Amino acid sequence: KKVVLAYSGGLDTSIILKWLQTEYGCEVVTFTADLGQGEELEPARKKAELLGVSEIFIEDLREEFVRDFVFPMFRANALYEGLYLLGTSIARPLISKRLVEIAAETGADAVAHGATGKGNDQVRFELSAYALNPDIKVIAPWRLWDLSSRTKLIDFAEKHQIPIAKDKRGEAPFSVDANLLHTSSEGKVLEDPAGEAPDYVYQRTVHPEDAPNEPEFIEIGFEMGDAVSINGETMSPASILTKLNELGGKHGIGRLDLVEGRFVGMKSRGIYETPGGTILLEAHRGIEQITLDRGQAHLKDELMPRYAELIYNGFWFSPEREMLQAAIDHTQKHVTGTVKLKLYKGLARTIARWSDHSLYSEAHVTFEEDAGAYDQKDAQGFIQLNALRLKLLAARERRLKK
Ligand code: ARG
Ligand code: SIN
Repeated sequence: KKVVLAYSGGLDTSIILKWLQTEYGCEVVTFTADLGQGEELEPARKKAELLGVSEIFIEDLREEFVRDFVFPMFRANALYEGLYLLGTSIARPLISKRLVEIAAETGADAVAHGATGKGNDQVRFELSAYALNPDIKVIAPWRLWDLSSRTKLIDFAEKHQIPIAKDKRGEAPFSVDANLLHTSSEGKVLEDPAGEAPDYVYQRTVHPEDAPNEPEFIEIGFEMGDAVSINGETMSPASILTKLNELGGKHGIGRLDLVEGRFVGMKSRGIYETPGGTILLEAHRGIEQITLDRGQAHLKDELMPRYAELIYNGFWFSPEREMLQAAIDHTQKHVTGTVKLKLYKGLARTIARWSDHSLYSEAHVTFEEDAGAYDQKDAQGFIQLNALRLKLLAARERRLKK
């Protein structure tokens, strides 16, 4: 029996690794991805070697993550429950895709992950894995073992000589998931939604009050719905998001304290920091304002919550997500141009936008002389016919009141 484990190098997945070897009797292959979480990956290799793993996969997936997952999602302006930019949700399908591919390469019949049995992540990992390989087996140790408390976990780690960082010995402070798009924190001090999150929870943004007193102005260039440049400099998808994170972090942009409905039914409270993504969403809406037709734009906005929910619930690799993606991508044909934004004390605001593909016609909209572009008399019939049913309704109302 052989299993590919999504391995972070942290204490929990190290315990899972050992547990799979000893209690489950599996040969373990580890897979560690750089998704821009900002952690060194070499320690994960060292640790896996120490724990007797011989097939160790460590990969930089940052470009693929942003190009093939984050950017397509941003074309939709996706937000879950109106606020969450889906930073964790969008990373899981990519991790699963590589787990399944590595299983095929190494002759493993199973994959394993460190998500608990209470959350969304188990669903996302597993739906993605099954969608890509219907025969794959999934091992989710958190749903199987009896290491139900911190003490039991630490005892298990000590018994098997798993190195434990000093600060990990006691209660874990809270659960963190980070990548190029966001950092999310859940659990422990955050579990009471009536209590304010302590400052130390925030890891990649300054407090808006502490952000610079001078605003900063940037220009983001778009091509067919994707950001391609910052201040005129063409950059790769991951470089763009990295740069926007730096700018957003500095100006305290993209903090969110949210209680959300998990797919498994319960509500959970999380703190999210999505500095670059928050700027990107504002900028994308800025360029769509002048390049998208109203009919397309409004229908796209109606589809958005469905699309966001599919990603949140783990259905990235589903025919209905692909169907919506095709529709969304179709709308982005002319979403090309430049947006100028002002970054200041927690906010990113569009202040100007221009495009060769613009639908904006100053000739039509001007309050000044329009040189015959638009005949105001046309509006009279337009209003009369739209008012017809409203007049008939009002007339009935008046008749029946008598
Ligand atoms: N609630 C978020 C989601 O479902 C984040 C989950 C993972 N975060 C964590 N801190 N473990 O997408
Ligand atoms: C977990 O349960 O492992 C993290 C939270 C989630 O998946 O929703």
